[in-house]
Amino acid sequence: MNDKRERIPREPVREPYRTKVVESIRLPSRAERERLLRGIGYNPFYLKSQDIYIDLLTDSGTGAMSDTQWAALMVGDETYAGSRSYDDFEQTVRDITGYDHIVPVHQGRAGEHLVMQSIARPGGIVLSNTLFDTTRAHVEYRDALPVDLLADIAWDFDEPHPFKGNFDLDKLQAALENHRGRVSAIVATLVNNLACSSPVSLENMRRVRELADRFGVPVFIDASRFAENAWLVTQREAGQRGRPVADVARDFFALADGCWMSAKKDGLVNIGGFVAVRSDQLADECRQRLVLFEGFPTYGGLAGRDLQALAIGLREALDEDYLRHRVAQIEYLHDGMREVGVPVSTPAGGSGVYVDVARLYPHLTPEDNPGIALTADLYLHGGVRMSAGVFHLTTVDPTSGTLVNRDFPCARLALPRRVYGRAHLDHVIASMRDVLDGAHKSPAYRLVTAPRVLAHFFARFEPVAPPSDHLPPGNQPRGRAMRG
Ligand code: F0G
Repeated sequence: MNDKRERIPREPVREPYRTKVVESIRLPSRAERERLLRGIGYNPFYLKSQDIYIDLLTDSGTGAMSDTQWAALMVGDETYAGSRSYDDFEQTVRDITGYDHIVPVHQGRAGEHLVMQSIARPGGIVLSNTLFDTTRAHVEYRDALPVDLLADIAWDFDEPHPFKGNFDLDKLQAALENHRGRVSAIVATLVNNLACSSPVSLENMRRVRELADRFGVPVFIDASRFAENAWLVTQREAGQRGRPVADVARDFFALADGCWMSAKKDGLVNIGGFVAVRSDQLADECRQRLVLFEGFPTYGGLAGRDLQALAIGLREALDEDYLRHRVAQIEYLHDGMREVGVPVSTPAGGSGVYVDVARLYPHLTPEDNPGIALTADLYLHGGVRMSAGVFHLTTVDPTSGTLVNRDFPCARLALPRRVYGRAHLDHVIASMRDVLDGAHKSPAYRLVTAPRVLAHFFARFEPVAPPSDHLPPGNQPRGRAMRG
């Protein structure tokens, strides 16, 4: 083994919690993993929980609640109208965001639905640093056009820019000028999930607000990972270092007219979300739709106990010890993968680590489905599940202001909150090292079946030529790539 590729010992990432309840996980044997992969058509969405050792498919709804949150479930008030749990939740969201009207929803996309029905006009445009795919779909559902204005550096995984999540302000200005009168809203996604979970700086947000005011356009925040974003600002932005993270978060909200949140991320709950806005009229419209699609305004598709746990989770997510550890874990995974030579987006951001699939599999073209090769290889080597896909973005040429389509291949190891420890992360790093070692032997994957909608959830694939690693047990090559 090459010494240089050994893990470089680092300061331990000290957990600001200890374990009170455990959940068993198991690593299936290599032969089982091969059989399972074949059986599910190499689509990681078909894998079953009991067959996964470490699940990095998403950081959404997969976190661990605290003892305080579990205890709060018992005092949740299940009153249909006027629940006390709603009051606790409402007060918390008001304190954190500063907005007047708080509308609970069962998860982020329900909030997107409520807001987009009001703000996205048919034939209009919604501008964003990048919209998450469900948000984009809600804009399109209104026959409006979603446009993503992230800077070109976001495509450069080696460029260590601290705020790759920022709006490209030239593109924003060009879009506002060229499509004057057509722009319904600007949406800032914090952190920018599709730009490798890189944060948005407070300075960038201020400039976005200035441009929005100049053109008379409202600004909204997708706050799903607002706490991670605010923490990264306190670590990276000149003038913000050392400020209380809750104050920084509040400054972001003050620059917008409202927000929605998938609380399954920085709400530290397994289900939940909300819309929070200043405008009485928008709040009324959202509440009326809420009754139709989610529930009464004091529960909005959630149980009283969910609201109670969420009120606590939102405060815990702004705890600086928690955030320091959370972001340090992502950095540990990022640094470890980089040290063994895996091409990852740098610097580390929130939510997880992003892999440059094209560079990992230079012999595979985009049509060969290298993302499927990666998810299959990682499961095969370590029983670890991750996700990979291609997002189709529409962006703007900053000089001409014309719309341009661009694909963003996105392969992510998303880290659930408060779930895995350092040995788990070391296992993932070692598994990725094995993936890298064997990548040149990985086959292309052919699409066998795919539905017309949501293809990435339901598609099935097969290797075009079986790789030598897929030989039956007993015929496998021996070495450190063997595990389990
Ligand atoms: N906004 C962002 C930035 C998201 O990342 C997500 C979900 C949503 C909105 C939608 O929220 O799932 O509660 O309806 N992201 C998950 C992920 C699914 O894996 O990144 P939801």
